[in-house]
Amino acid sequence: MSAERSIHRTRPRPGLDAERVRADFPLLAQQVHGMPLAYLDNAATTQKPRQVIEEIERYYREYNANIHRGVHTLSMRATEAYERARSRAAQFINATSAQEIVFVRGTTEAINLVAQSWGRSRLQAGDEILISAMEHHSNIVPWQILCGQTGARLRVIPINDAGELIIEEYERMLGERTRLVAVGHISNALGTINPLDRIIELARQRGARTLIDGAQAAAHTRVDVQALGCDFYAFSGHKLYGPTGIGVLYGREALLEEMPPYQGGGDMIKVVTFERTEYNDLPYKFEAGTPHIAGGIGLGAAIDYVERLGLDEIAAYEQELLAYATEAARAIKGLRLIGTAAHKGAILSFVLEGIHPHDIGTILDHQGIAIRSGHHCAMPVMERFGVPATARASFAAYNTPVEVDRLIRGVEAVKKVFS
Ligand code: ALA
Repeated sequence: MSAERSIHRTRPRPGLDAERVRADFPLLAQQVHGMPLAYLDNAATTQKPRQVIEEIERYYREYNANIHRGVHTLSMRATEAYERARSRAAQFINATSAQEIVFVRGTTEAINLVAQSWGRSRLQAGDEILISAMEHHSNIVPWQILCGQTGARLRVIPINDAGELIIEEYERMLGERTRLVAVGHISNALGTINPLDRIIELARQRGARTLIDGAQAAAHTRVDVQALGCDFYAFSGHKLYGPTGIGVLYGREALLEEMPPYQGGGDMIKVVTFERTEYNDLPYKFEAGTPHIAGGIGLGAAIDYVERLGLDEIAAYEQELLAYATEAARAIKGLRLIGTAAHKGAILSFVLEGIHPHDIGTILDHQGIAIRSGHHCAMPVMERFGVPATARASFAAYNTPVEVDRLIRGVEAVKKVFS
């Protein structure tokens, strides 16, 4: 391994100073198996900065109350904080208004909501839903369920050996019966950044709706739903330095207006009698029951946090880390990268000849390095590349070149164990 690679040592950067970012994350200061923790499993979930932890604690310590219901001071304070978080989420992805932001448990629930509300009320036998071959199970299974309910047909846009969606094939597959195109912004298993502008433009020309799974994108690149022109966009709080159990479904207001509720219960109603129910306005129509109030408030704090760091700065920094890690990984004999798209997020999936990814993950863990190994909830991707699983390092704004060096040395050590 060359000590002269371009960003071999952490140094303050004009854009983003990862060491300063790290200082905000109490968890990162710990040791694992007697070694400093190198947390490289950010595609699974990110760690939380103290700004988020403290905001959640403040809610529980100072103004825990149910929202939208009470006239008492605590309830009004909690409602204000929760609704402020919604407005922040709207600004964050440039939605037209906060009414277009539905709080959900996460990306998975967002996609299920669209499938069961929009899809079930709109789709008929013979209609087609297009997804890509690199989708997460969350962007496959809800559509399979919907197809089973409606007789619609799920079609899969193929990907090439680099893990890129084949646009010409997509164009050919788009047709009269295409009602929805649902694709990931960034692939969790391959890192591929999909050309959303083109994908959405083509779908719109054919009158198809579009849903973008942004779970792997929201913390890593700037998202502008108006510029994209998509109908739905979903992301999760916990991959954005925020809490688990909270996420966002963005939907264009006119579409959300037309859609029936997803679940019934409290908060999603205006008037209930035993004969009929009048539903609440957007976005509450889709938010039955007491929501994850602390989660919403924590997500608002997480959005404030990444906005302060700067999405463009984060993206530029992570691209450098990825380039550095990719170059080093390519130099390891017997290592095969899975996902070599020209445009990638900071995700490095790989296999080592003759060594199971679980063994790679376990040995790295003993060096204090946390990666994920497995099929990454994307079994069809594994099948496409002819592997049962991959080892995956995924980077965030607090990771450093020193951690990349440790990963590379760790992988070399894994090879030695098995040689
Ligand atoms: N979807 C998450 C991942 O890729 C859990 O790890």
